[in-house]
Amino acid sequence: MKIAIIGTGYVGLPTGVCFAELGNQVVCVDSSELKIQNLNNNIIPFYEPDLQDLLKSNKELGRITFTKNLSLAIKNANIIIIAVGTPSNKETGHADLTFIKNAILEIAQNLSKEDGYKVIAIKSTVPIGTNKLLESLILQYNSNLQVDIVSIPEFLREGKAISDFLNPERIIIGIDNDRAKELIDKLYKPFTERHIPLVFCSRKSAEMIKYASNSFLGIKVSFINELADLCEALGADIRDVSKGIGLDSRIGSKFLLPGPGFGGSCFPKDMIEILTTSKENKTPLTIVEASIHSNSNRSEKILQKIEKALNNNLFNKQIAIWGLSFKAETDDVRFSPAIPIIKKLQERETSININAFDPEANQNMFQVISNINYFDDMYECAKNADVLIVMTEWPIFADVDIDKLYKTMRLKTILDLRNILNPKKVVERGFNYFPLGFYA
Ligand code: UDX
Repeated sequence: MKIAIIGTGYVGLPTGVCFAELGNQVVCVDSSELKIQNLNNNIIPFYEPDLQDLLKSNKELGRITFTKNLSLAIKNANIIIIAVGTPSNKETGHADLTFIKNAILEIAQNLSKEDGYKVIAIKSTVPIGTNKLLESLILQYNSNLQVDIVSIPEFLREGKAISDFLNPERIIIGIDNDRAKELIDKLYKPFTERHIPLVFCSRKSAEMIKYASNSFLGIKVSFINELADLCEALGADIRDVSKGIGLDSRIGSKFLLPGPGFGGSCFPKDMIEILTTSKENKTPLTIVEASIHSNSNRSEKILQKIEKALNNNLFNKQIAIWGLSFKAETDDVRFSPAIPIIKKLQERETSININAFDPEANQNMFQVISNINYFDDMYECAKNADVLIVMTEWPIFADVDIDKLYKTMRLKTILDLRNILNPKKVVERGFNYFPLGFYA
């Protein structure tokens, strides 16, 4: 099929490349000339494993192109997928719809009745009711258009976007009339042929499923984080507790790993959006609110752990931080827990010196925090450090040369906020090792 994708970010680009991989003809549109130029030269503006190779091979096959010219892209398309950003508006707590409304306006201005029937699929995460709003907007601009707006929420994890797209556990389609169904069935045939569930529901339900999924996952993470703290207080082992409850299929073993708090461009903004909407509708999601509150308190909890590990003496301490992105396998630092933790450390004690290393996120974090030292080598970063704080679960941290690390650090204290180091090896080498939720 012929697909136009508006927006070439964390969602739009993997979506375009994967639909091309499945044999469709894809044109990706972005308003940024620089982004388009870079993409035409195989330069991707963010880290996403496997994306570059897949982009290159599909470009060579002529299946995917990039343009600033939205009009050209949508004229021949059967389906127009909108995947522009809907960032959180700090004042209102709602998602900001500026970019998506601009996209709808531009489509309306560049389509005519003669262009025939088009399906406009909203892949951006939008507040419940937005699909209907956008449909009335586009028909207000141009009542002759033969268009249906459908909701196709994405469930891509950063760092796993390609595999999540090509091997989804389900595909959710929000549709309020059957006219678009035939086209959607055709587009997703490569998935239904593999018996991947294609779930049709109303557009409002599809929008709700997206928020409900992320909120539930966020609640699961903040639950295990608090449980880890309780395990530490009582001397239980969160690793066994997580395994023990996760073996119950009603709970499931995923998203039960304690950490420094959830971050990223989705959980925080989506949970605030759905909470705001719930309060406006007098059906407050109190558990979501508690999870947001618990997560925003997490950095203070982590600070107390760091102070305790350093016997409450941060004066002149050399602190090494491994991992700056909000999780491993991404360069994205949006809502990364490393940000409040670093800022709190600097507030606590101005004499401390912070060294930081992340395999992919140094540049992005430098835009946010410029008064720490960035390193391209994890051992250089830890040189003469009094404490090492492991913030993300990059495999290279788990594979650390413990002996080399021991020799390079001054005091031998490690806080492992992802429980990814080998406790036995670390303790045997002589480190003071502080994991989350158990004692080594
Ligand atoms: C999430 C959803 O998983 C995805 O379906 C949706 O489309 C976008 O939002 P993402 O934000 O990329 O994806 O990150 P995810 O892998 O879900 O992790 C979210 C946060 O939870 C991260 O900060 C991660 O470190 C944290 N997390 C996750 C934990 O702390 N423990 C876990 O066990 C799992």
